[in-house]
Amino acid sequence: MSTIHADAPAIRLADVRFGYRPGQQVLDIPALEIARGARVFLYGPSGSGKTTLLGLIAGVLAGGTGRVEVLGTDLARLGGSARDAFRAQHLGYIFQMFNLIPYLSVRDNILLPTRLDAQRAARLRGQSPAQAATELAEGLDILSLLDQPVTELSVGQQQRVAAARALIGYPELVVADEPTSALDADRREAFLRLLFASCERVGATLVFVSHDQALAPLFSQRVSLPDINRAARPAAA
Ligand SMILES: Nc1ncnc2c1ncn2[C@@H]1O[C@H](COP(=O)(O)OP(=O)(O)OP(=O)(O)O)[C@@H](O)[C@H]1O
Ligand SMILES: [Mg+2]
Repeated sequence: MSTIHADAPAIRLADVRFGYRPGQQVLDIPALEIARGARVFLYGPSGSGKTTLLGLIAGVLAGGTGRVEVLGTDLARLGGSARDAFRAQHLGYIFQMFNLIPYLSVRDNILLPTRLDAQRAARLRGQSPAQAATELAEGLDILSLLDQPVTELSVGQQQRVAAARALIGYPELVVADEPTSALDADRREAFLRLLFASCERVGATLVFVSHDQALAPLFSQRVSLPDINRAARPAAA
């Protein structure tokens, strides 16, 4: 089980370099610090490394150099399965491609984090996992879909299932990769309300990737990835 260091920042990166292949440099970030409870809008052009950065923060990607500390834990010190356990316990990740489990129903996809981690299940604030899943589904307007296979959903419906799965059990850190890209205006607004309320309720930190600059004012901190990523800059002559 991992220990949480309450006074450490939510995220601290130092001299992080990462490429998917030898010789490829996608990220070269000297420093990035995100405080607990911050609501961060992360932006940058397509291909600039936003998803890669979220993958490193969530411990889905590993193998670079430098230090990635999340909630005071140095992820490089954890092995693969310990990183998976850490993520299940502390993080909600809304993946850009959703990553829903195709053979599970909507309900079972949403409940997954509570089944992977006992502490996550214990943080439901008096609700049963089933009640929590129902409440999230209601807030995201997917209540009538709970017993359907996720393979029979529209893209925007899948995105809302991915959001409910990330938020169940009040994770301390939520990373959301373009989570509103497939939503209409009403659902986008409802989702953002739910997302912000869920984070605020437990003082969670939110890192939100979006191309939609109209959303930027809703956040407490805006981070331009090309500004912090030396790999995005042309080499000095
Ligand atoms: N699995 C992979 N293998 C090899 N290269 C990859 C892989 N995933 C991403 N890349 C490369 O890493 C770079 C950053 O990709 P990333 O997906 O992080 O960008 P992004 O900022 O999230 O873009 P978008 O806004 O389109 O989602 C790109 O040049 C991409 O080609
Ligand atoms: Mg991306």
